[in-house]
Amino acid sequence: MSEPLIRKCVVPAAGLGTRFLPATKTIPKEMLPIVDTPTLQYIVEESVSAGIEDVILINGRGKSCIEDHFDLAVELEAVLKARGKVEELRSLRAISEMANIVSVRQKEPLGLGHAVLCAKSLVGGEPFGVILGDDIIDAEEPAIRQLALAYHKHKKGVVALMEVPAEETHLYGIAAGERLDARTIRVSQIVEKPKQNPPSNLAVIGRYVLPPSVFPILETQERGVGGEIQLTDALARLAKTEGLIGYQFEGRRYDAGDKVGYLKANIAYALKRKDMRGPLLAYLRQVVEEAERA
Ligand code: UTP
Repeated sequence: MSEPLIRKCVVPAAGLGTRFLPATKTIPKEMLPIVDTPTLQYIVEESVSAGIEDVILINGRGKSCIEDHFDLAVELEAVLKARGKVEELRSLRAISEMANIVSVRQKEPLGLGHAVLCAKSLVGGEPFGVILGDDIIDAEEPAIRQLALAYHKHKKGVVALMEVPAEETHLYGIAAGERLDARTIRVSQIVEKPKQNPPSNLAVIGRYVLPPSVFPILETQERGVGGEIQLTDALARLAKTEGLIGYQFEGRRYDAGDKVGYLKANIAYALKRKDMRGPLLAYLRQVVEEAERA
């Protein structure tokens, strides 16, 4: 196998998930299932299929079930074995063998920039990926690999971008800059959740490939929007000193941290399953018909 483009990926999953309360009082939103698989597992699977060896999970208080999910479940495996549930046993084993997962505790959810900074000593001096723990991209080529390829081509940090409607720009980090090709821009401006005059309609989506030089920037980053240490603000400084690339990835993105996004992801992933597609489509048609009649 050829050398991986990046070896390490940081997955922040230490947020409070307030948009999903009351479910997130005890269940981390990154563990809510899309059909039957936790959101975070899709993210670890994306990392693995991009050749990433180490997943650095940023975890928070009360979220230790995330670590358990990727660990061996000896008792459960014994029961499945005794009952002859071979397929379930195989898929359970595959989860615990998926990747080398290390976990760091973010003691307080001070923001995404702070969450990434918590991985500093584990990342060391090499470029690394970041995938947000509640952001799924369904793509032929893993989205994080698409970004890693752009990183190696341009030798600069890369953020994933997606066009959003003008009325939604205040919900995202927004980037703008000189267009280099159909998918790529050289970022000259990047702002977190602009209240007015967004520089474009290109939203920063939860995937990044960054140089280790972002860490000293994060160490001195002051609090921004929402009183949080924002990764976007640190990237605005990185864009000025070293340059930054924006890459419009190929694939369909679901914000599983948002209720509607979460439901869309469930429908889309259920429709991909042979055993679920028929009955679900029939039900969806019926619901649409009834809603149109009402
Ligand atoms: P979000 O802003 O979507 O997560 O961060 P949140 O703050 O938990 O969500 P709400 O708005 O209260 O519902 C995106 C990802 O970054 C992680 C979150 O866990 C999520 O997966 N995150 C966010 C951290 O790890 N630490 C933080 O301080 C903030």
